[in-house]
Amino acid sequence: MNAPTKGLGIQAPAYVKNAKLIAWVADMAALCKPESIYWCDGSNEEYDRLCQQLVDAGTFQKLNPAKRPNSFLASSDPSDVARVEDRTYICSANKEDAGPTNNWMAPAEMRATLQPLFDGCMKGRTMYVVPFSMGPLGSPIAHIGIELSDSPYVAVNMKIMTRMGKAVYEVLGADGEFVPCVHTVGAPLEAGQKDVAWPCNKTKYIVHYPETREIWSFGSGYGGNALLGKKCFALRIASNMGRDEGWLAEHMLILGVTSPAGKKHHVAAAFPSACGKTNFAMLIPPAGFDGWKVTTIGDDIAWIKPQADGTLRAINPEAGYFGVAPGTNDLTNPNCMASLDRDVIFTNVALTDDGDVWWEGMGDAPAHCIDWQGKDWTPQIAKETGAKAAHPNARFTVAATNNPALDDAWDDPKGVKIDAFIFGGRRSTTVPLVTEARNWVEGVYMAATMGSETTAAAAGQQGVVRRDPFAMLPFMGYNMSDYFQHWLDLGKKLQASGATLPRIYTTNWFRKGADGKFVWPGYGENMRVLKWMIDRIEGKADGVDHITGVSPRYEDLNWTGLDFSAEQFATVTSIDKAAWQAELKLHDELFEQLAHHLPKELPATKAAIEQRLAA
Ligand code: GTP
Ligand code: SPV
Ligand code: MN
Repeated sequence: MNAPTKGLGIQAPAYVKNAKLIAWVADMAALCKPESIYWCDGSNEEYDRLCQQLVDAGTFQKLNPAKRPNSFLASSDPSDVARVEDRTYICSANKEDAGPTNNWMAPAEMRATLQPLFDGCMKGRTMYVVPFSMGPLGSPIAHIGIELSDSPYVAVNMKIMTRMGKAVYEVLGADGEFVPCVHTVGAPLEAGQKDVAWPCNKTKYIVHYPETREIWSFGSGYGGNALLGKKCFALRIASNMGRDEGWLAEHMLILGVTSPAGKKHHVAAAFPSACGKTNFAMLIPPAGFDGWKVTTIGDDIAWIKPQADGTLRAINPEAGYFGVAPGTNDLTNPNCMASLDRDVIFTNVALTDDGDVWWEGMGDAPAHCIDWQGKDWTPQIAKETGAKAAHPNARFTVAATNNPALDDAWDDPKGVKIDAFIFGGRRSTTVPLVTEARNWVEGVYMAATMGSETTAAAAGQQGVVRRDPFAMLPFMGYNMSDYFQHWLDLGKKLQASGATLPRIYTTNWFRKGADGKFVWPGYGENMRVLKWMIDRIEGKADGVDHITGVSPRYEDLNWTGLDFSAEQFATVTSIDKAAWQAELKLHDELFEQLAHHLPKELPATKAAIEQRLAA
């Protein structure tokens, strides 16, 4: 057994041959001063053992195995429930390279800031060495990372979310490259000090050095702050790799959609956090769509690489889902509910009296449960105090292989060919249900100017519209305008090779009526919009030209099995000229903010929209 190694001796297992890695672990151990070092092998036996250890420590509660086999509930500290965008830094050598949308500090200054924080930060704890591959092991598009963390919660989550374990060292070999990721909850234990169930620190830093491809995370144990393969590596660091090497790292789900005739297309869709990627990636076609099938390749992140023939191929670098629980139920997302039957780590949902889980929007409320903060919760208490049983950003961690709709090619190192991109914001007004860009540049414009109402996935004020270009605002690892240019350059390159470019669409499932309720039924019914897109690609569907692109008329969608009137359709598709004039002013503000290196195609596209609006 690969038991914890007491003391600071390195004693890497014999199968670790990478001298740079061994030296780095020694350096980090000398800095963080853990009580012991544990090299994760990624085995099931190890997973079970660490989960039991988390149960013993009070971090995990084991759920009733008759209801939810092999599953656990973690409740975080109430101060540590979401990504901390205001504590997230891109520390490039030059400030302009981080751009105006990122927090920045000079690398030397940041290193000097972090040094005393990391010095002794793991005292009294075990440092877990977590080897992982983003993407299929050994695939030419995959990349390796090593996370050093003092959180066993991180270690077990990384086992589900990535290809984690011993085999990574075989790929890494003696001199392979890896992205070094250092994570601490920032809560050293003095001799004899009793640990808490969810250690963390009021001070938090989520730091990226893009030039040296390093990640340093201090003070949080939660999600994207702590599972460093995800947002930190697969988006912020990988976007830098993509810029340098000519590919894309995107906040996108990837799905396959197969027609009754057996023809398959692949779509990559960027929606901001908690705006429906997981739902869309697992969509079950509704009545009226017999023979149509949607399969999941990924639900959050896509790495997309141009091929010699001018096509784009995409892989999901992750191996699991860290998805939003509230709002998920057997009607909105049955595939997701089936994925959660067993082998799940839940974080910040409620515990029912029979040892199962519950969250708002799952179904009938239990008469009593224990809320995410460990307090009694009843529907009456909720009515009186507004208390939520589950935190709005409560999440599940589950392996992709639990998903009944998993695509056969989800693990294919070659990836899948992308036929369309979708960009979808959460907007109560203004933005219509679906629009097709007339060309690549117009699509890039729509993606760049996307706005969305903020959700609980980030700490801070909720429900205000903020510009969220490409759904990448919190995840962009370099200057946003340079990223727009990167997309435009890629379009030109693909065009030059003579290939058919993927179509670009924008969607908005979230327009509200006068009663404040969503008008579009959403979820499975989004298939109606998806089919229109596929039909457009096939040259089989019409639409109407308007100021920002082409949208379907009522008669262009299949309405079989849904009672949705032409009037309701008008409510979700109408173009309000005054609202668009106000909207374009906000695009101006964005372009002013991003003026440095802003591609000239974008203001030019805006001018064309203004002309159409004035006509
Ligand atoms: P991250 O994991 O945070 O990146 O987000 P995600 O985009 O995967 O979020 P997810 O799919 O988990 O979205 C969750 C939220 O979106 C819940 O509040 C859902 O109820 C809501 N949602 C998803 N699809 C739809 C839809 O079609 N219509 C409406 N109205 N809400 C939706
Ligand atoms: C998101 O916020 O977009 C997520 C969850 O996917 S987290 O990994 O916590 O960033
Ligand atoms: Mn996400």
